[in-house]
Amino acid sequence: MSHDTPILAVRGATMRFGGFTALSNVTADFPVGELTAIIGPNGAGKSTLFNILSGAFPPTEGEVLFNGTNVAGKRQHHFARMGISKSFQITNVFPELSVQENVRVAVQAMTRRFDLWTPRSRYREMIDRAVELLRVVGLENHRGRLASELAHGEQRSLEIAMAMACEPKVLLLDEPTAGMSPEETVGVIDVILTLAKSCTIILVEHKMKLVMDISDQILVLHHGEFLAKGAPHEIRANDEVKRVYLGEGRK
Ligand SMILES: Nc1ncnc2c1ncn2[C@@H]1O[C@H](COP(=O)(O)OP(=O)(O)OP(=O)(O)O)[C@@H](O)[C@H]1O
Ligand SMILES: [Mg+2]
Repeated sequence: MSHDTPILAVRGATMRFGGFTALSNVTADFPVGELTAIIGPNGAGKSTLFNILSGAFPPTEGEVLFNGTNVAGKRQHHFARMGISKSFQITNVFPELSVQENVRVAVQAMTRRFDLWTPRSRYREMIDRAVELLRVVGLENHRGRLASELAHGEQRSLEIAMAMACEPKVLLLDEPTAGMSPEETVGVIDVILTLAKSCTIILVEHKMKLVMDISDQILVLHHGEFLAKGAPHEIRANDEVKRVYLGEGRK
């Protein structure tokens, strides 16, 4: 594997739902350590590509390459084990558990052969790890609260901490700031930028300014097809991208 091998890539990825083609022959690289945003108007195929990249379903045609190896068709848990972790548009924390317990359960799920006979020291280690992750996402001081008591933005941060418990190499985020106030959005962006130092991030996001501010590269989809890819300044200057966004209203 050369240094140039992207950690994740799609080659000719096509997704059909019945007779409808949601994604058509898309080829794209996601380089190691970079933050890539996937953008495009409603229905462009962003979530479909997200689901293919996270292993939620295989493409109808084409390849999904992880470190250069085709993994299309492997089950979701294989993707997780390879180090591809995701956080959803829909919040999926356990509302009746404390903030710390939510993350501790996620850490435990990652720890092999944990059972009733595991020494208490291992349990302590898992809690320490949970607290460390909560510190990263800025929830350390909320760890004793019930997850259900958190504000929406804090729940998203908790969810990101849970995704991080899997020690992902690639973290996929589908609209992590959806439904958030501007203040909450700023908080979650901080979290994302912190995570970006230690892992590759693929982000689906509607908010253009946010995308332009934090991405290393941007992939633009339109009607299920690849439209453009490049650094923020290149995408901003791209006439086709401008036409798509001006033509369909700014997101
Ligand atoms: N399971 C499915 N069955 C049928 N059609 C689907 C399915 N999932 C997505 N589609 C269609 O495929 C197209 C792309 O959908 P997708 O959810 O990937 O778009 P998106 O870019 O994420 O849009 P949004 O910005 O609204 O989230 C849409 O026209 C959608 O209606
Ligand atoms: Mg979507």
